[in-house]
Amino acid sequence: MMMTPLQSDFGADMLAAVFPITLFRKASSRLMNHKLILREYRTVFLSKKVYFPISKAHELVTEIGGEIIEVPEDFFPIKPRKVLSLRQLEKKYGIPFPKSINIIGDIALLNYIPDPAYMNKIGQVIMSNYGVRAVFLKTMEIQDPYRIASWRRIAGYGDTFTVHYENGCMFALDVTRTFFNPRMGGERLRVISQVKSNEKVVDMFTGVGTFAIPMAKKCAYTHAIDINPAAIEFAEINMKLNNVPENKLILHNMDAMNAPKELGSFADRIIMNYPERSLKFLHAAISTLKPHGGIIHLYLFSRDKTRNAIIDTAKEKIVKNISHLVKAIKFLNIMASKEVAPRKFLVIIDLLVIKR
Ligand SMILES: C[S@@+](CC[C@H](N)C(=O)[O-])C[C@H]1O[C@@H](n2cnc3c(N)ncnc32)[C@H](O)[C@@H]1O
Repeated sequence: MMMTPLQSDFGADMLAAVFPITLFRKASSRLMNHKLILREYRTVFLSKKVYFPISKAHELVTEIGGEIIEVPEDFFPIKPRKVLSLRQLEKKYGIPFPKSINIIGDIALLNYIPDPAYMNKIGQVIMSNYGVRAVFLKTMEIQDPYRIASWRRIAGYGDTFTVHYENGCMFALDVTRTFFNPRMGGERLRVISQVKSNEKVVDMFTGVGTFAIPMAKKCAYTHAIDINPAAIEFAEINMKLNNVPENKLILHNMDAMNAPKELGSFADRIIMNYPERSLKFLHAAISTLKPHGGIIHLYLFSRDKTRNAIIDTAKEKIVKNISHLVKAIKFLNIMASKEVAPRKFLVIIDLLVIKR
């Protein structure tokens, strides 16, 4: 889909106010105050820019640092009045839909399509049902160490950049460059709500800052680490998007194994959301806790068959891993979430550690 600054030869009939993504918040509130935004359409995010559907050209747009362009009418998704579930769509259209979908900002992600013959149809239906700009299908499973998959667009236009709202914050991200799982929003809120204003926090595997940014707003300060340079690039954008001061969130593009050496031993609370490998980093986390000890939020995957076995094995592994480093461990909370893949469970553990 092509767009040009106020000149078009393809029958454009809508106006978009375009801003660099870091101006999103400012532009949004000022355009809204001037009642310039057409509320029946969705805001669009593309290649680190935000596009607002506006009713008329106005000098305010350039004043804020944006520009006005013409776009085709179908550039902005229409906000749906009613969203049907995937099962309801299946009944309505009489074709098989996938079992689940992830809506992230203005895009939809599908892990698979039951019958590829219906790929185009499913893409189009999902676009209008959820009011998204594009639909992407996973073409390669998530790979370590950055935990990112490959995606192919099956409907709509544009790239995999978007902005997602979660827990009162905005997160700019690109699913082909950074990890993001919208299904963890509730769990992130559970952890964020525990943090106290005087605490110093370390988020060892921060991604685009989904734990660290809301935490930094509440606590004394947060150090957030990720080995993926793109994750840190987006976390930096997200600090600006969410008005997080530089002294409240310090970002590190490094291996979390180096946390104790680079940051010292000061943390009251550590988040370890890398379920595939977090156990291997547990000793580094303990060294990064303040000398007396502190709280660790640890995530693991388990393929054990029963809930009791999942919990017992997780406890055993943790104790075996760190017993030589600690005086005492208390499991404040340990639970197995619902299946994240066939016979694969996420284990959520809050651990109080007293160091030797
Ligand atoms: C499962 S994601 C979690 C992201 C984030 N906490 C969230 O909830 O969205 C794991 C993250 O760990 C990062 N990672 C992998 N190995 C790492 C390492 N050795 N040191 C630091 N970060 C690492 C990946 O790049 C990825 O962003």
